[in-house]
Amino acid sequence: MISSRRITLKTFPEGLPEDSDFEIVDVELAAPNKDQLLIQVTHLSIDAFIRTTLGSGGLHTQADIGDPVTALGVGKVIASGTNDFQEGDWVAGPTLAQSHALMPAAAFQKIHPGNESPSKFLGVFGMTTGLTAYAGMARLGQVQQGDTVVVSAAAGAVGSMACQIAKHLGGTVIGIAGGPQKTQYLLEDVGCDKAIDYKGEDVAAQLDTLAPNGINVFFDNVGGDILDHVLNRIAPGARVVLCGAISQYDDLSDVTGPSQYLKIAERNAQMLGFTVDHYAAEFPEFVAQLQTWSEAGLHLSEHIESGIEKFPHALRTMFNGGHMGKLLVEL
Ligand SMILES: NC(=O)c1ccc[n+]([C@@H]2O[C@H](COP(=O)([O-])OP(=O)(O)OC[C@H]3O[C@@H](n4cnc5c(N)ncnc54)[C@H](OP(=O)(O)O)[C@@H]3O)[C@@H](O)[C@H]2O)c1
Repeated sequence: MISSRRITLKTFPEGLPEDSDFEIVDVELAAPNKDQLLIQVTHLSIDAFIRTTLGSGGLHTQADIGDPVTALGVGKVIASGTNDFQEGDWVAGPTLAQSHALMPAAAFQKIHPGNESPSKFLGVFGMTTGLTAYAGMARLGQVQQGDTVVVSAAAGAVGSMACQIAKHLGGTVIGIAGGPQKTQYLLEDVGCDKAIDYKGEDVAAQLDTLAPNGINVFFDNVGGDILDHVLNRIAPGARVVLCGAISQYDDLSDVTGPSQYLKIAERNAQMLGFTVDHYAAEFPEFVAQLQTWSEAGLHLSEHIESGIEKFPHALRTMFNGGHMGKLLVEL
């Protein structure tokens, strides 16, 4: 028997998730049955979608009280009920927020971290990070050489990757993030051409100055006012990519939509939404391209919280902007 420490839902959070909304529970896990894996989880990905599973009514599967909280993770197989996986294999998949996972093998894929941290398969090559940024920027945004590209929540995981992908595709990139430390990170680490601090600067005035000819591609992670400011300044034929709307996730039953959406019609533009798993068939191609760019400098810094007990704190950090790059819990 292996003991797994997991985070379960105690109450549906109202607003920002609090520690008191969760419980830490130890459970005994049996040996894997046929076609199951027993996995020792090493890293959990903190993703905005987790908040939307905690009772706010939409987008993703809803957790019931007492359920383990959903999460993607990477880890090592410590026992296998299938010949497709061996003890010692590294895997990535929906581990849930727990230290050990007993799961159907079919939900997991092998990863090969080599000398690198397995966390890279949640970040640069992670479905909800690198692959999301690639799908949104390359497939939907279709960035062309010389395009002016704006990215919101640019200093976060998807945003940092989206900015770099746009640069690789030939765009001039303006990143929007909260606070001077983040704008400095965007300019010095991520490689944005320009950065706007939406908490300390007038976003509309800054966009007028930095994108005088209009915005060709907007990769939006935030929604709300920032989306409206950009819609007002899109260039003819622009692509507005709805990756996420983190400003709206606390209450999905009362989402504020863009008031400037008529600019889409006026400027012959497109507004396109997506969910990354719809591109699953293309993931090998996305990974190959990201691998090539990684060798040319594409990277993602990590913000790591240690210990499964830090999971609620890490989830809160995602919504109060307390991290840069990829937010992870290391076990
Ligand atoms: N379409 C898909 O398939 C898909 C897949 C994965 C993720 N996503 C979306 O991608 C977005 C980014 O996810 P991520 O995992 O990379 O998170 P992240 O960007 O690493 O973290 C979220 C960031 O959002 C900003 N933020 C939080 N609340 C905000 C608010 N009210 N107004 C403005 N900014 C706010 C914070 O940065 P500041 O300090 O700059 O405010 C925070 O650091 C999310 O919207 C997520 O839902 C979509």
